[in-house]
Amino acid sequence: MRAESPVHFDEQRETWDVFRYEDVERVLRDHDTFTANRAFDPEKASNDGDSDGDEDLPMLQTMISTDPPEQTRLRGVVDERFQPGAIREYQPRVEAVTAELLDDLEGEDGFDFVDEFAIPLPVIVIAELLGIPAERREEFKAWSDALVARPEDDTEEELERVQREQERAQREMGGYFATLLEERDGGSGDDLITLAANAEELTRGEQIGFCMLLLLAGNITTTNLLTNAIWSVEEAEVTDAIRTGAVDRRRAIEEVLRYRSPIQSLKRIAVENVELHGRRIETGDVVTLWLGAANRDPDVFDAPEEFRPERHPNRHMAFGTGVHFCLGAHLARMEADVALGQLLERFDRLDADLSDLQPLNGLYGLESLPCDVR
Ligand code: HEM
Repeated sequence: MRAESPVHFDEQRETWDVFRYEDVERVLRDHDTFTANRAFDPEKASNDGDSDGDEDLPMLQTMISTDPPEQTRLRGVVDERFQPGAIREYQPRVEAVTAELLDDLEGEDGFDFVDEFAIPLPVIVIAELLGIPAERREEFKAWSDALVARPEDDTEEELERVQREQERAQREMGGYFATLLEERDGGSGDDLITLAANAEELTRGEQIGFCMLLLLAGNITTTNLLTNAIWSVEEAEVTDAIRTGAVDRRRAIEEVLRYRSPIQSLKRIAVENVELHGRRIETGDVVTLWLGAANRDPDVFDAPEEFRPERHPNRHMAFGTGVHFCLGAHLARMEADVALGQLLERFDRLDADLSDLQPLNGLYGLESLPCDVR
């Protein structure tokens, strides 16, 4: 598809599919032509040219679904807290949480890496950064799961059930964040809820959206990065080489991000007629950008279908590119580095069982990954 029809209209899904690295990068960087605002309405835009009328926007407006200058304003509140320096300061906490999770696993012969490690680690880390009291974490986990749940089948009842659950979780979680924001308004804590509460330039609705986005954006994605990392290094039989340092751990993690990108696609909407790779895209058309395909583009990567843990340079787009480049990229990389480092230090063998892999529905990851550690 990438070679034969790099920009292709899918009649059924009513979207343009974009596969080549160069084209995906161009769309993501051209935020003037391709909006991240999923509620973009071409008729409204052409009627009065006012695309920021609040009445048309979804209730929880966040940086991920807005364009500059709105997106710059929303992201500006928190950007610094996710820069490498700030993330380095937080590393000792991630090391401690990782060690605690591994302590709990010690003595067990086998465990499910997904359920017992890759799911809890990112949830605990982001909940701590936000300043969510530890006793509420289970509840948050249930809400996050409901919000990112996908229908089990295509039936109308199932679609409605998932939507109802999502609306309920969104209401409950939003209500809980509203209470915490109220309590912390004017406070001096260094947690991200206090940061949001004190950001006077944000409305309360934007502050709630901000907290929900941070909680949700990094959980399943980081879970899948951790899982895909163990899956890939075990499959390529480079676990020992990484443990001894013969293969660089950080490079291996970058290659996992390229080879098994947790987010396979992103969407944008054209705000004007535009040509892309010889195809005419019209105002209001939806464009699907296949990060997973771009990350295996032979024009950019040698032997793209091979997992090469020492690949360098590695210009993958697993975290997107342009103004929406993942806010949590440094955090996710650090979590993966700490997790892989400690796992390999603690266990001589992981013996991941790759015989019956169940892919996740809709995302690049696994339902479970049994490990038989020693
Ligand atoms: C944006 C991937 C972890 C927070 C993005 C985007 C991608 C991405 C592809 C771009 C979305 C777009 O352009 O529409 C990933 C992957 C992760 C990860 C693969 C883990 C391996 C995290 C973590 C956090 C986070 C840990 C937060 C704590 C965000 C936020 C945005 C974002 C807030 C929106 C940024 C903006 O719109 O300016 N992520 N992410 N992500 N990510 Fe991540």
